[in-house]
Amino acid sequence: MSALTKSLTGFGLGVALTLAATTSAQAAGGEGCGTFTNADGVEEHLACSTAPIDFANKGSLQRGATMFMNYCAGCHTAKYVRHSRIAQDLEIPPELVEKYLLVTSDQIGDHIDNGVDPDIQAGWFGAPPPDLSLETRLRSDDWVYTYLLSFYEDPSRPWGANNLVLQNAAMPHVLINLQNELGEEEYRSRVGDLVNFMAWMAEPVREDRKRYGFFVIIFLLILLIPVYLLNKEFWKDVK
Ligand code: HEC
Repeated sequence: MSALTKSLTGFGLGVALTLAATTSAQAAGGEGCGTFTNADGVEEHLACSTAPIDFANKGSLQRGATMFMNYCAGCHTAKYVRHSRIAQDLEIPPELVEKYLLVTSDQIGDHIDNGVDPDIQAGWFGAPPPDLSLETRLRSDDWVYTYLLSFYEDPSRPWGANNLVLQNAAMPHVLINLQNELGEEEYRSRVGDLVNFMAWMAEPVREDRKRYGFFVIIFLLILLIPVYLLNKEFWKDVK
């Protein structure tokens, strides 16, 4: 192998290893889920909880969609998602979507958009509720899951609740009744469904992408054999 090929191979390997290291650091939660000051005034680090993401679990995605439309879509938009795509991908009959999930519009082809001006909402809450279509990609699945599980009572806040992950969040603890009704374990599982749905919203083709990626790598590995043989054939008289 010539010196040039050797150094090129070394460079490629280096890039691949760095990429692999950064992706796994990100997957492990990277910076975690924020810091907070505990009752003794000591700063503590909050570890992220792992969100139960499973796109194959259609029941979980369907429960998550119902929760999102009932508890979140009144304030938040998800402008990149159409109700019809929910019906199709989550295998919910369109009649049921029209009957139960069209909270913010009348047409099944519409996007999830409550039509409320974010500036006016900022006046109500102190900060505008951001669009949630891509939220789990912005913050990570685990961040959103931990955030939703980290509301606590705080009488000093305008809505009587604060959040460990997003200190002084302008969002009220909108799931408080559900949390009291269901008990801790069932509540966590429902919040898991909700985040599973939000992860699907942010990238509906995530599972397909991984599957295709696997086949593409296999294809490239197989392609390597004829390419290697061709290369040998071409150079055999030159050397
Ligand atoms: C009453 C209105 C309201 C409802 C209902 C509501 N939110 Fe919020 N939400 C807000 C506001 C306002 C903010 C901005 C908080 C801030 O920046 O301080 C917010 C922020 C968030 C954030 C953090 C965004 C970020 O990256 O900083 C997430 C995630 C979120 N909401 C998810 C949800 C989910 C999931 C639901 C349904 C269970 C929901 N919200 C229901 C008002 C609401």
